Amino acid sequence: MTGTEKSDHGQWSSRFAFILAATGSAVGLGNIWKFPYITGENGGGAFVIVYLLCVLLIGIPIMMAETMLGRRTRQNPIDTMITLSDEAGADKNWHYLGWMGVIAGFLILSYYSVIAGWASAYVLKAFTGSFFAADASEIKGLFDGLIASPIQLIFWHSLFMLATMSVVARGVKTGIEKAVRFLMPSLFVMLILLVAYAMTTGSYDQGLKFLFTPDFSKLTGDSVLTAMGHAFFTLSIGMGAIMVYGSYLPKDVSISKTVFLIAGTDTVVALLAGMAIFPIVFASGLEPAAGPGLIFQTLPIAFGNMTGGWLFGILFFVMLVFAALSSSISLIEPAVAWLVENKGMNRKQACIWSGSITWLLGFGTIFSFNIWSGFKIFDRTIFQLLDYLTANLLLPIGGFCIAVFAGWIMKRQHSEHELGMPNTLSYQVWKVLICYVAPAAVFLVFLHVVGVL
Ligand code: PHE
Repeated sequence: MTGTEKSDHGQWSSRFAFILAATGSAVGLGNIWKFPYITGENGGGAFVIVYLLCVLLIGIPIMMAETMLGRRTRQNPIDTMITLSDEAGADKNWHYLGWMGVIAGFLILSYYSVIAGWASAYVLKAFTGSFFAADASEIKGLFDGLIASPIQLIFWHSLFMLATMSVVARGVKTGIEKAVRFLMPSLFVMLILLVAYAMTTGSYDQGLKFLFTPDFSKLTGDSVLTAMGHAFFTLSIGMGAIMVYGSYLPKDVSISKTVFLIAGTDTVVALLAGMAIFPIVFASGLEPAAGPGLIFQTLPIAFGNMTGGWLFGILFFVMLVFAALSSSISLIEPAVAWLVENKGMNRKQACIWSGSITWLLGFGTIFSFNIWSGFKIFDRTIFQLLDYLTANLLLPIGGFCIAVFAGWIMKRQHSEHELGMPNTLSYQVWKVLICYVAPAAVFLVFLHVVGVL
């Protein structure tokens, strides 16, 4: 234990445990639910290319920076920013960065849990055989029926929040490590099988063409922002989740290799989800731009038609719920770690507090799909507003600040030491990306959206 380490701060048992937990955080609804539907809404290939570029040039360097900041102090994100900015003699305003992350985490989890609730409801639907012999319009009816019912959504959202709180209450090691160990490989295998099914639909080529052939005329300023925002969202960066996981990382682990592995896995999972879903979309005559219901309106068609679809459907949605769970726990971990380390609470109390706030906030999203669907601010429902505010604004702003802090404020010898690659070419490349490329790219995309560029 080092001098700066808080005695109550946990540590992963190994590098592998961190990889599992951080991959668990990264891979979630963002990959399987969100990536396909925003790709569908934003015209396909060109959007995918911008997203991939953002992951590579902005996401990966910032993920390394965030892990490094957390590991240096071994504290929660709020205290990490306080300790590090004081260490560097920087402005006190840097203290707010940790807070912004905690708030973003609450806001994201409030809607994330509602969508994870949909996935949970679909476990039951799969179990009762609702997908059999149903055509595309019946499957759509099933989904519309679910989101029209506040009671059902409240039930599933509450169940998911309870699950999140009970895993987080157990602590990082027992709670998180165990859950992800078997889950990630299983989800991966399922996706590959779904892609194999997609090959039999007769629209595989069309699906792949949509996903991988760029048509840049379809790209608007807002789609570029959405692609960039999604790079942050899917890698779980810009709000402290990766920072707090980094703070549990043993000192001797190489951050760069680990981050590449996590980001690579995350990207492959998203692309596999797209390759499974779009062929089904075209084969069933559905709209790629169907919105947040896309996977719930397409995958059940596959489960209803394939041999063994009953079991496969159940397993798939169970996996999806677990993937969501391993992300949701990282969304409240920064707040929980802060409450435990500063407010004298035990993990259970901290979970009850932060979980209850998020649970209540979730009602805004629930009602966006039914009784408040006509209530719009800036032309967006509460769900759309929360999504835009967090993924497109708060995470990129958080990531921008992390890049500036790690690149310009933190002393070079500290970042060299933490990243464990003093004066190497890799360090130089990272330094250029974090000091110039990543912040400039975020800034330019913002300028473009507000119409200055
Ligand atoms: N990365 C998660 C996903 O893709 C969501 C997430 C965002 C988790 C931000 C933590 C922090 O589903």
